[in-house]
Amino acid sequence: MKITVIYGTNRTEKSSTYNIARQFIAELADGDIVTEFHLPKDMPVFCTGCLTCLSDSTKCPHYKYIQPIEEAMQNADLLIFTTPVYLLHAPGQVKALLDHFGFQWMAHNPRGVYFHKQALVISTGARIGMRRTVRDVKNSLDWWGVGRVYRFRKTVGMAGWRGLSDKRKAAFAQEIKTTSQKIRRQTGAKPRLKVKLIFYLMRFAQKKFWSDEPQAAYWRENGWFDGKKPWRTS
Ligand SMILES: Cc1cc2nc3c(=O)[nH]c(=O)nc-3n(C[C@H](O)[C@H](O)[C@H](O)COP(=O)(O)O)c2cc1C
Repeated sequence: MKITVIYGTNRTEKSSTYNIARQFIAELADGDIVTEFHLPKDMPVFCTGCLTCLSDSTKCPHYKYIQPIEEAMQNADLLIFTTPVYLLHAPGQVKALLDHFGFQWMAHNPRGVYFHKQALVISTGARIGMRRTVRDVKNSLDWWGVGRVYRFRKTVGMAGWRGLSDKRKAAFAQEIKTTSQKIRRQTGAKPRLKVKLIFYLMRFAQKKFWSDEPQAAYWRENGWFDGKKPWRTS
Protein backbone atom coordinates (compact mmCIF):
# COMPACT_ATOMS: atom_id res chain seq x y z
CA MET A 1 0.00 0.00 0.00
CA LYS A 2 1.36 3.44 -0.93
CA ILE A 3 1.75 5.55 2.18
CA THR A 4 2.43 9.23 2.75
CA VAL A 5 3.43 10.18 6.27
CA ILE A 6 3.37 13.65 7.76
CA TYR A 7 5.23 13.64 11.05
CA GLY A 8 4.08 16.46 13.29
CA THR A 9 7.60 17.13 14.57
CA ASN A 10 11.21 16.73 13.44
CA ARG A 11 11.82 14.17 16.21
CA THR A 12 12.61 10.57 15.28
CA GLU A 13 14.03 7.74 17.44
CA LYS A 14 13.07 9.28 20.78
CA SER A 15 9.58 10.21 19.60
CA SER A 16 6.59 8.07 20.58
CA THR A 17 4.48 9.14 17.62
CA TYR A 18 7.36 8.46 15.22
CA ASN A 19 7.95 4.96 16.62
CA ILE A 20 4.25 4.11 16.45
CA ALA A 21 4.03 5.38 12.86
CA ARG A 22 7.06 3.29 11.87
CA GLN A 23 5.33 0.18 13.22
CA PHE A 24 2.22 0.91 11.16
CA ILE A 25 4.41 1.38 8.08
CA ALA A 26 6.10 -1.97 8.74
CA GLU A 27 2.66 -3.63 8.90
CA LEU A 28 1.17 -1.97 5.83
CA ALA A 29 3.70 -0.79 3.25
CA ASP A 30 4.36 -4.21 1.63
CA GLY A 31 7.43 -2.78 -0.13
CA ASP A 32 5.37 -0.02 -1.80
CA ILE A 33 6.34 3.66 -1.88
CA VAL A 34 6.51 5.42 1.50
CA THR A 35 6.95 9.20 1.29
CA GLU A 36 7.75 11.03 4.51
CA PHE A 37 7.60 14.66 5.55
CA HIS A 38 8.58 16.22 8.85
CA LEU A 39 7.10 19.40 10.29
CA PRO A 40 8.20 22.10 10.47
CA LYS A 41 11.24 21.11 8.35
CA ASP A 42 9.21 20.44 5.19
CA MET A 43 6.58 23.16 5.73
CA PRO A 44 8.38 25.90 7.66
CA VAL A 45 6.07 28.85 6.96
CA PHE A 46 2.68 30.14 8.05
CA CYS A 47 -0.26 30.80 5.73
CA THR A 48 -0.21 34.47 4.66
CA GLY A 49 -4.01 34.67 4.50
CA CYS A 50 -4.04 35.92 0.89
CA LEU A 51 -6.75 33.40 -0.17
CA THR A 52 -5.13 33.12 -3.62
CA CYS A 53 -5.32 29.33 -3.29
CA LEU A 54 -9.12 29.44 -3.49
CA SER A 55 -8.97 30.48 -7.15
CA ASP A 56 -5.70 28.68 -8.00
CA SER A 57 -3.82 26.62 -5.43
CA THR A 58 -0.65 26.63 -7.57
CA LYS A 59 -0.42 30.40 -6.98
CA CYS A 60 0.05 29.99 -3.22
CA PRO A 61 3.20 31.93 -2.28
CA HIS A 62 4.38 28.76 -0.52
CA TYR A 63 3.62 26.41 -3.40
CA LYS A 64 7.18 25.07 -3.44
CA TYR A 65 6.44 23.50 -0.04
CA ILE A 66 2.84 22.56 -0.80
CA GLN A 67 3.43 20.91 -4.17
CA PRO A 68 5.53 17.89 -3.08
CA ILE A 69 3.27 17.23 -0.10
CA GLU A 70 0.12 17.55 -2.19
CA GLU A 71 1.51 15.25 -4.90
CA ALA A 72 2.55 12.62 -2.37
CA MET A 73 -0.82 12.74 -0.62
CA GLN A 74 -2.71 12.45 -3.89
CA ASN A 75 -0.64 9.39 -4.90
CA ALA A 76 -1.02 7.57 -1.58
CA ASP A 77 -3.59 4.96 -0.56
CA LEU A 78 -3.06 5.78 3.10
CA LEU A 79 -2.16 9.08 4.77
CA ILE A 80 -0.55 8.91 8.20
CA PHE A 81 -0.43 12.02 10.38
CA THR A 82 1.43 12.05 13.68
CA THR A 83 0.78 14.74 16.22
CA PRO A 84 1.92 14.97 19.83
CA VAL A 85 -0.26 16.93 22.25
CA TYR A 86 1.03 20.45 22.82
CA LEU A 87 -1.09 22.29 25.38
CA LEU A 88 -4.12 20.11 24.70
CA HIS A 89 -3.97 20.61 20.92
CA ALA A 90 -1.89 19.83 17.86
CA PRO A 91 1.43 21.73 17.66
CA GLY A 92 1.46 25.00 15.69
CA GLN A 93 3.38 23.50 12.77
CA VAL A 94 0.62 20.92 12.21
CA LYS A 95 -2.01 23.66 12.10
CA ALA A 96 0.24 25.67 9.75
CA LEU A 97 0.31 22.75 7.32
CA LEU A 98 -3.45 22.21 7.51
CA ASP A 99 -4.09 25.93 6.95
CA HIS A 100 -2.24 25.67 3.64
CA PHE A 101 -4.63 22.93 2.52
CA GLY A 102 -7.80 24.87 3.29
CA PHE A 103 -8.43 25.22 -0.45
CA GLN A 104 -9.32 21.53 -0.70
CA TRP A 105 -12.01 21.63 1.98
CA MET A 106 -15.43 20.73 0.64
CA ALA A 107 -16.49 24.32 1.29
CA HIS A 108 -14.08 25.23 -1.55
CA ASN A 109 -12.41 22.96 -4.13
CA PRO A 110 -12.36 19.35 -2.86
CA ARG A 111 -10.16 16.93 -4.78
CA GLY A 112 -12.00 13.80 -5.91
CA VAL A 113 -8.99 11.57 -5.23
CA TYR A 114 -9.39 11.74 -1.45
CA PHE A 115 -12.79 10.10 -1.24
CA HIS A 116 -11.40 6.56 -1.59
CA LYS A 117 -8.37 7.13 0.59
CA GLN A 118 -7.85 6.21 4.20
CA ALA A 119 -6.00 8.13 6.88
CA LEU A 120 -4.62 7.38 10.31
CA VAL A 121 -4.01 10.03 12.95
CA ILE A 122 -1.55 9.06 15.68
CA SER A 123 -1.31 11.14 18.83
CA THR A 124 0.53 10.70 22.11
CA GLY A 125 0.58 12.88 25.18
CA ALA A 126 2.25 12.78 28.56
CA ARG A 127 -1.15 12.82 30.24
CA ILE A 128 -4.21 14.34 28.55
CA GLY A 129 -5.45 16.01 25.37
CA MET A 130 -5.10 13.30 22.71
CA ARG A 131 -8.80 13.31 21.86
CA ARG A 132 -8.83 17.02 21.04
CA THR A 133 -5.46 16.84 19.29
CA VAL A 134 -6.59 14.07 16.97
CA ARG A 135 -9.74 16.06 16.29
CA ASP A 136 -7.62 19.07 15.23
CA VAL A 137 -6.29 16.97 12.35
CA LYS A 138 -9.29 14.75 11.66
CA ASN A 139 -11.47 17.78 11.14
CA SER A 140 -9.46 18.75 8.05
CA LEU A 141 -9.39 15.16 6.77
CA ASP A 142 -13.18 14.91 7.05
CA TRP A 143 -13.57 18.17 5.12
CA TRP A 144 -11.08 17.07 2.46
CA GLY A 145 -13.36 14.08 1.91
CA VAL A 146 -10.95 11.36 3.11
CA GLY A 147 -13.04 8.18 2.99
CA ARG A 148 -12.04 6.67 6.32
CA VAL A 149 -10.06 8.05 9.24
CA TYR A 150 -8.62 5.91 12.06
CA ARG A 151 -7.38 7.23 15.40
CA PHE A 152 -4.52 5.88 17.48
CA ARG A 153 -4.24 7.79 20.78
CA LYS A 154 -1.98 6.87 23.68
CA THR A 155 -0.86 8.29 27.00
CA VAL A 156 2.88 7.75 27.34
CA GLY A 157 3.76 9.65 30.54
CA MET A 158 6.43 12.31 31.05
CA ALA A 159 9.31 9.94 30.19
CA GLY A 160 7.89 9.27 26.71
CA TRP A 161 8.87 6.36 24.48
CA ARG A 162 12.03 5.43 26.36
CA GLY A 163 10.13 5.27 29.63
CA LEU A 164 7.50 2.84 28.35
CA SER A 165 7.61 -0.70 29.69
CA ASP A 166 8.03 -3.65 27.34
CA LYS A 167 4.55 -4.77 28.36
CA ARG A 168 2.96 -1.51 27.19
CA LYS A 169 4.98 -1.52 23.99
CA ALA A 170 3.76 -5.06 23.33
CA ALA A 171 0.16 -3.94 23.92
CA PHE A 172 0.67 -1.08 21.45
CA ALA A 173 2.13 -3.50 18.91
CA GLN A 174 -0.93 -5.74 19.21
CA GLU A 175 -3.29 -2.80 18.70
CA ILE A 176 -1.23 -1.59 15.74
CA LYS A 177 -1.66 -5.03 14.15
CA THR A 178 -5.44 -5.02 14.70
CA THR A 179 -5.88 -1.49 13.33
CA SER A 180 -3.65 -2.33 10.35
CA GLN A 181 -5.87 -5.30 9.51
CA LYS A 182 -8.92 -3.02 9.50
CA ILE A 183 -7.14 -0.54 7.22
CA ARG A 184 -6.18 -3.36 4.86
CA ARG A 185 -9.74 -4.65 4.69
CA GLN A 186 -11.12 -1.20 3.82
CA THR A 187 -8.68 -0.36 1.03
CA GLY A 188 -10.55 1.41 -1.80
CA ALA A 189 -13.84 1.33 0.13
CA LYS A 190 -16.56 3.94 -0.27
CA PRO A 191 -16.41 6.98 2.03
CA ARG A 192 -18.18 7.20 5.37
CA LEU A 193 -21.66 8.65 5.71
CA LYS A 194 -20.24 11.75 7.43
CA VAL A 195 -18.12 12.58 4.38
CA LYS A 196 -21.08 12.10 2.06
CA LEU A 197 -23.26 14.32 4.24
CA ILE A 198 -20.66 17.13 4.20
CA PHE A 199 -20.51 16.80 0.41
CA TYR A 200 -24.31 17.06 0.03
CA LEU A 201 -24.49 20.01 2.41
CA MET A 202 -21.70 21.85 0.60
CA ARG A 203 -23.25 21.08 -2.79
CA PHE A 204 -26.48 22.66 -1.59
CA ALA A 205 -24.63 25.75 -0.29
CA GLN A 206 -22.52 26.09 -3.46
CA LYS A 207 -25.61 25.96 -5.65
CA LYS A 208 -27.93 28.04 -3.54
CA PHE A 209 -25.72 30.67 -1.85
CA TRP A 210 -22.24 30.76 -3.41
CA SER A 211 -22.97 30.19 -7.11
CA ASP A 212 -21.20 33.41 -8.20
CA GLU A 213 -17.92 32.46 -6.45
CA PRO A 214 -14.99 30.95 -8.45
CA GLN A 215 -15.33 27.57 -6.74
CA ALA A 216 -18.86 27.09 -8.12
CA ALA A 217 -17.36 26.81 -11.62
CA TYR A 218 -15.05 24.08 -10.30
CA TRP A 219 -18.01 22.16 -8.87
CA ARG A 220 -19.91 22.58 -12.14
CA GLU A 221 -16.95 21.40 -14.26
CA ASN A 222 -16.71 18.26 -12.16
CA GLY A 223 -20.37 17.53 -12.82
CA TRP A 224 -21.16 17.64 -9.09
CA PHE A 225 -24.11 19.97 -9.66
CA ASP A 226 -25.52 17.41 -12.13
CA GLY A 227 -25.59 14.42 -9.83
CA LYS A 228 -22.01 13.11 -10.26
CA LYS A 229 -20.32 12.04 -7.03
CA PRO A 230 -16.58 12.33 -6.38
CA TRP A 231 -16.52 8.79 -4.93
CA ARG A 232 -18.02 7.27 -8.10
CA THR A 233 -15.52 7.03 -10.91
CA SER A 234 -17.95 6.12 -13.71
C1 LIG B 1 5.18 22.40 24.35
C2 LIG B 1 4.65 21.09 24.86
C3 LIG B 1 3.37 21.01 25.35
C4 LIG B 1 2.84 19.81 25.82
N1 LIG B 1 1.56 19.76 26.26
C5 LIG B 1 1.04 18.58 26.68
C6 LIG B 1 -0.33 18.51 27.09
O1 LIG B 1 -1.08 19.47 27.07
N2 LIG B 1 -0.81 17.31 27.50
C7 LIG B 1 0.00 16.20 27.53
O2 LIG B 1 -0.49 15.15 27.91
N3 LIG B 1 1.28 16.24 27.13
C8 LIG B 1 1.82 17.40 26.69
N4 LIG B 1 3.13 17.45 26.25
C9 LIG B 1 3.91 16.20 26.19
C10 LIG B 1 3.87 15.55 24.82
O3 LIG B 1 2.58 15.54 24.26
C11 LIG B 1 4.32 14.10 24.88
O4 LIG B 1 5.62 14.06 25.39
C12 LIG B 1 4.23 13.40 23.54
O5 LIG B 1 4.20 12.02 23.74
C13 LIG B 1 5.37 13.78 22.62
O6 LIG B 1 5.30 13.04 21.42
P1 LIG B 1 6.63 12.68 20.63
O7 LIG B 1 7.45 11.78 21.52
O8 LIG B 1 6.19 11.99 19.39
O9 LIG B 1 7.34 13.97 20.35
C14 LIG B 1 3.65 18.64 25.79
C15 LIG B 1 4.96 18.72 25.29
C16 LIG B 1 5.47 19.91 24.82
C17 LIG B 1 6.86 19.96 24.26
